[in-house]
Amino acid sequence: MHPITIAPSLLSCDFARIGDEVARVERSGGDWHHVDVMDGHFVPNLTIGPPVVKSIHAAATKPLDVHLMITDPRTYAEPFAKAGAHVLTFHAEVCDDAAAMRETIRVFREVGVPKVGISVNPDTAIERVADVLDDVDLVLVMSVFPGFGGQSFIADVLEKTAWLRDQGYAGHVEMDGGVNRATIERCAAAGADVLVAGSALFGVPDMAAEIADFKRLATDARGRNA
Ligand code: DX5
Ligand code: ZN
Repeated sequence: MHPITIAPSLLSCDFARIGDEVARVERSGGDWHHVDVMDGHFVPNLTIGPPVVKSIHAAATKPLDVHLMITDPRTYAEPFAKAGAHVLTFHAEVCDDAAAMRETIRVFREVGVPKVGISVNPDTAIERVADVLDDVDLVLVMSVFPGFGGQSFIADVLEKTAWLRDQGYAGHVEMDGGVNRATIERCAAAGADVLVAGSALFGVPDMAAEIADFKRLATDARGRNA
């Protein structure tokens, strides 16, 4: 079983002080930096591109977990890989079928992405990724509709995480959206090992205490479920 990994989402940081925010996450015990890339097409919001990811990478000592909410992940795989993405995740919804997913995964590997992830929106059946589970290092289960931080957790998606583990999927399962101290235990109990949190971590005065509590809550919940 993978250790519990907490991935603070920089979407909720103060972008005017991004280097300081990266340092705050690392001092506070964050494990990965979750970086949300939005193109204004796949989601109704725009965020950052490869040059900013490169700057974040230069400021960071911990891995960058880059979540591509974009319609054309193959075209941008190489710039994001070169910018320092350690995990690079695309959405299943931008692929017509499993062959297109496999081709995207192949391109990501070809450009040297260390860990390839695939994500599903709350209204996408998890079975859509069944044929590529052997080819990915991570499945990101969206627990809000992507586009914005600060939304409420959609508990129905917990069944997807449990389904992945029932299939014997041994890679990372990541939960993203509305994760906080009230929802994190259910995520971990269902089998998620990477927990993303934006507003719940950047919004508190003591991020270190919050991350420590998140890890304890998630680890204990997983233990109770074992
Ligand atoms: C939403 C993003 C999330 C977002 C989570 O589209 O993918 O990573 O930052 O924010 P919170 O934790 O505030 O729901
Ligand atoms: Zn995200």
